[in-house]
Amino acid sequence: MEVNNKYVAIKSNINGAPQESHFEIKVENLSLILEPDSKEVIIKNLFVSIDPYQLNRMKSESSSQAAISYASAITPGEAIDTYGVGRVLVSHQPEFKKDDLVAGLLTWGEYTVVKEGSLLNKLDPLGFPLSNHVGVFGFSGLAAYGGFFEVCKPKPGDKVFVSAASGSIGNLVGQYAKLLRCYVVGSAGSQEKVKLLKETLGFDDAFNYKEETDLKSALKRCFPQGIDVYFDNVGGKMLEAAVANMNLFGRVAICGVISEYTNASTRAAPEMLDIVYKRITIQGFLAADFMKVYADFLSKTVEYLQDGKLKAIEDVSDGVESIPSAFIGLFNGDNIGKKIVKVADE
Ligand SMILES: NC(=O)c1ccc[n+]([C@@H]2O[C@H](COP(=O)([O-])OP(=O)(O)OC[C@H]3O[C@@H](n4cnc5c(N)ncnc54)[C@H](OP(=O)(O)O)[C@@H]3O)[C@@H](O)[C@H]2O)c1
Repeated sequence: MEVNNKYVAIKSNINGAPQESHFEIKVENLSLILEPDSKEVIIKNLFVSIDPYQLNRMKSESSSQAAISYASAITPGEAIDTYGVGRVLVSHQPEFKKDDLVAGLLTWGEYTVVKEGSLLNKLDPLGFPLSNHVGVFGFSGLAAYGGFFEVCKPKPGDKVFVSAASGSIGNLVGQYAKLLRCYVVGSAGSQEKVKLLKETLGFDDAFNYKEETDLKSALKRCFPQGIDVYFDNVGGKMLEAAVANMNLFGRVAICGVISEYTNASTRAAPEMLDIVYKRITIQGFLAADFMKVYADFLSKTVEYLQDGKLKAIEDVSDGVESIPSAFIGLFNGDNIGKKIVKVADE
């Protein structure tokens, strides 16, 4: 038996801002009969994750591509792997049976043939919508939890600044920080996002960075007593402004630098003397570093969601055809919360 598998590919490497013309929707015939000695599993994709780091994989060159296997270069014309949730159609691995729900490394397409050794786990939805297992319980949630608690080492009362605060990771960092009784300010790119942060997610303050002429003064206004923790999602000028406002022994967690992905000439050049004299720690991290706290992350996050203390904010589009625009939208600030594409009905 065969199916048509529709999937997204890049036509050639993308070295600036992504546009629709960089992508194509391809269709292949996919056999649902596996070779007898293969150890593969065929998955029908249900929800797939849309993430900024994929742009660095699409470039002809990026230092991230050699760092870790899941950040490796994407070959034009080929399927693009991504985290997602799906259902098993055919399995030659004993731990997976037909119709099992799974989460793991799928593709921006309708089906994935998962090879032996690739990331794939059976999924217990725990009573939550499947999309939550791509967002709040997926690598975004783990990056937010691990990056904040393990890297920032926050204390109650700390003054915390989060950039791209209405995005997938940023909104969770701010909510975790409020649960710890920190003073939390977020930056975001529209008044609608600022309103969400202040009125729905309980941030103490928020500002639209696109309306500020001087980011250093904006942060001085929001943090008259300085910043203890900066959770950086954007890099560039915002990182420079945050460093200028950090307190002694401040901690800066570099989750990502999205403002630099489309334009390398906007790289941050923070005042290094501030880092020396204020003894600031700046640390990068990857969500995968925090597997050791995964159980703790999962149990606390489930409890907070069930108690209504944490909100899972998602922005879901429909169909494989919507993947290119969903991805491009990340760099234009179109999304509010975790960007996910629903590929098929459950
Ligand atoms: N370390 C890790 O393991 C890990 C894992 C996942 C993601 N990340 C990184 O974390 C960051 C956030 O990722 P996410 O998945 O949560 O994405 P996201 O925040 O949900 O979406 C991206 C958001 O970034 C903002 N943005 C886009 N271009 C910008 C620019 N030039 N300057 C300032 N803000 C800009 C936009 O919001 P505005 O409207 O506010 O501009 C946009 O909505 C990214 O840097 C990503 O690469 C790291």
